[in-house]
Amino acid sequence: MRLRLQLTLVFGAFIAVILSAVAASVYLLTERSLSAGVADRAESALAEITSGESTIAEGLQKLPSNTYYQILIVGAERRPETVAQIRSGVSYSNFSNSNLVTTLSDSALQTLLEEGEVAASVTLNDESVRLMARLGRIDFPAQGRAFQAAFLVGIPVSLMNATLDQLQRDLMLTVLVAFLFFALGVWLLSERVLGPLKNVTEAAGHVSGSDLSRRVPVPHNRDEIRDLAVSINHMLDRLQESFETQRRFTADASHELRTPVTAIGGHVSYLLRRTHPTADQLDSLEVIQREAERMAKLVNDLLELARADAGFTVDLEPMNLVEVAETVRKEVAPVAKGANVTVSSRTPLAEVHGDPTRLKQVVLNLVQNAINAGAENVNITISVERHQVRLEVLDDGSGIPPEALPHLFDRFFRVDGARSGRGNGSGLGLAIVKWLVQQHGGTVEVESRLGEGSVFTVLLPAADTRLPGEPGARATLVEGLKTWTRG
Ligand SMILES: Nc1ncnc2c1ncn2[C@@H]1O[C@H](COP(=O)(O)OP(=O)(O)OP(=O)(O)O)[C@@H](O)[C@H]1O
Ligand SMILES: [Mg+2]
Repeated sequence: MRLRLQLTLVFGAFIAVILSAVAASVYLLTERSLSAGVADRAESALAEITSGESTIAEGLQKLPSNTYYQILIVGAERRPETVAQIRSGVSYSNFSNSNLVTTLSDSALQTLLEEGEVAASVTLNDESVRLMARLGRIDFPAQGRAFQAAFLVGIPVSLMNATLDQLQRDLMLTVLVAFLFFALGVWLLSERVLGPLKNVTEAAGHVSGSDLSRRVPVPHNRDEIRDLAVSINHMLDRLQESFETQRRFTADASHELRTPVTAIGGHVSYLLRRTHPTADQLDSLEVIQREAERMAKLVNDLLELARADAGFTVDLEPMNLVEVAETVRKEVAPVAKGANVTVSSRTPLAEVHGDPTRLKQVVLNLVQNAINAGAENVNITISVERHQVRLEVLDDGSGIPPEALPHLFDRFFRVDGARSGRGNGSGLGLAIVKWLVQQHGGTVEVESRLGEGSVFTVLLPAADTRLPGEPGARATLVEGLKTWTRG
């Protein structure tokens, strides 16, 4: 998940939790204080009708208009002992159809019996009511009598509930809006913070081995990101410097080696041709000649790669890849160590934009590798696809172990290791092949099975994707046919 989204979610969740906790506290406190207010009102209403200071009639007159009350006369002398006794008391209430006692459960009435007082929240006529009940005595001074009674008062709480509902909605909306604003704020802020970092990362991604001259942009703000960009640029300076030094060294060294190596080769040839060395001397001279040839190839390869590093490009012209493959086949046939090299192509013309000498070098390298790998059959297959030409070099040689495949195109990489002594190569061939193919806008890949063989696939953009017979394709087709029949 992107850092920006992570920051937004984490901070958003954090603020949502805090705001929810605050909102819940506000709600609970409000509810508690409103309930306490209602309980106080119920308590004072009950006190009005049960206090001995005023008469019942006075007490009842003092009750607020929306207060329910019910007085149940339950007996003469003794306090009621059963729930049924209370329920069957003689009722006197202000609302004829509102029988408060029926809303109370048996267990609530039992509490009333045991503790002389009870409070409950009930529903009366579809309305929520806070109900308080108390046992006591009621005097009838005119008759000189007193009776046991249960006093019940109910305060409607619908207003309080409506207030609480409204408060709940308001709080939820506030939390949601605050969360959205906060998340948006974090999202925008993180863009400000991470934006420059993204630029630095993108620019750093464009710096490659072949182009170390690029630098990451340095932001104007004096902050950590500026420090990072400056450090990366310093690192790139040093990297470019050492890369340049190494490149110059390789180029200079191989250039300087070229003359002595050529001289050694020339002198050995002279000695072999013009003198009569003994058998031992002949052996030595042959070794010197072989090694001089090997060193000459190495020097040439190194120069080639130095040219690649220096950014040299190849000249491209329309050319026929089939012709190149044929030339390679003819050239390697005499030195193929008994390998059977063949070229198969369905069409005599596979036209690409390329440098024929360089592409010959590519095919030659691949074929020579196959021969060196002990292949008996090496087949160069060429096919023209929609927009590209496919050249495959198949062999039944030793194959390449899977762990070596990712490094095959690295410089100086050899499957047996550079110092194993096996083979003559220096491990530069495929690195050069890759560079040359890339210079032609193509790709090179390898598939191989150990013990069975390998196939190297070179894909190059086709020079003319028009089908033979279409205008413009004819001239090159005729050229191609000529070379095909000549070969
Ligand atoms: N067709 C193949 N079959 C088996 N192994 C291969 C094949 N092609 C390449 N390799 C392995 O890959 C290694 C690297 O090949 P590369 O052409 O780069 O170097 P090289 O042939 O050893 O030397 P150079 O080509 O510079 O003379 C070889 O040493 C060889 O072990
Ligand atoms: Mg090679």
